Amino acid sequence: MKLEIYPFVKWAGGKRQLLPLLIERMPRQYNDYFEPFIGGGALFFDVQPKHGIINDINLELVTTYKTIKNSLEQLITKLNEMEELHIKSPKEYFYNVREWDKKDDWLNEDDVTKSARFIYLNKACFNGLYRVNSKGFFNVPFNNKTEIKSYDLKNLRNISKYLNESSTVILNEDFEKVCSDAKKGDFIYFDPPYDLLKDDTFDSYTKTAFGKEGQIRLAELFKELDRRGCYIMLSNHDTPLIRELYTGFKIELFQVKRMINSDSSKREGEEVIVRNYGNEESNTLL
Ligand SMILES: C[S@@+](CC[C@H](N)C(=O)[O-])C[C@H]1O[C@@H](n2cnc3c(N)ncnc32)[C@H](O)[C@@H]1O
Repeated sequence: MKLEIYPFVKWAGGKRQLLPLLIERMPRQYNDYFEPFIGGGALFFDVQPKHGIINDINLELVTTYKTIKNSLEQLITKLNEMEELHIKSPKEYFYNVREWDKKDDWLNEDDVTKSARFIYLNKACFNGLYRVNSKGFFNVPFNNKTEIKSYDLKNLRNISKYLNESSTVILNEDFEKVCSDAKKGDFIYFDPPYDLLKDDTFDSYTKTAFGKEGQIRLAELFKELDRRGCYIMLSNHDTPLIRELYTGFKIELFQVKRMINSDSSKREGEEVIVRNYGNEESNTLL
């Protein structure tokens, strides 16, 4: 039975809006479920596949998925502690926590502390953005909230239960490596960093941007997996590059509101869903 679950972080490019459109476009039947750019995991948490392989290049995000799976109670205790310290002096505490990754021994810190910091910063920073500078240090400013509610207990408990009861594999690799074992009949959902629109600036989930080179590498992998007989679905902005890279596949266009953009005039855009299989093989006859 499916549990009630939704993403535990706000994530740039989060797919909660496109969700119904993605769900009806999934294949009716498939073997393993792959999501190499998991981010907040909107589709994954909704589908709750029995055999999932999820991955992201963001180490702190992946560590947090693992901590929710393996050490939930310690994580909750730590988040409660952080929320209390936040109330006492919100701005000072936020900037103090933001600096933790500059400490020499930060990488040796335990996963519960790293994960609690990751969730706290996501809830206490401006717009839930994740952005690091060229040295890899988190640099999003404070959202000025005096009180932070960093988690929904029922949701975290359900995520932890689901991750423990399913045979989900959680990885921290480049997307290409993760798909090397995908076989005929497996389903892969690609939700990469967006191809940039003319006036865009956000491409930095990590210290190196994904860029045009990443989009080209991904399209090559898409074609290789298509030859293998996998079901593949991908979402991205509607740009000339994406149209060119996926010529010959099924491309559908949708209008969406974009949540993470400080300039409200840029909050609307056109996105595409690309697939290598047709409506007749989809969940819902479209
Ligand atoms: C558009 S977001 C995914 C959003 C997600 N579908 C959701 O619902 O929140 C893209 C993700 O790709 C990750 N990423 C960027 N480059 C990557 C790479 N080379 N390999 C794997 N993941 C990568 C980013 O860290 C980010 O979480």
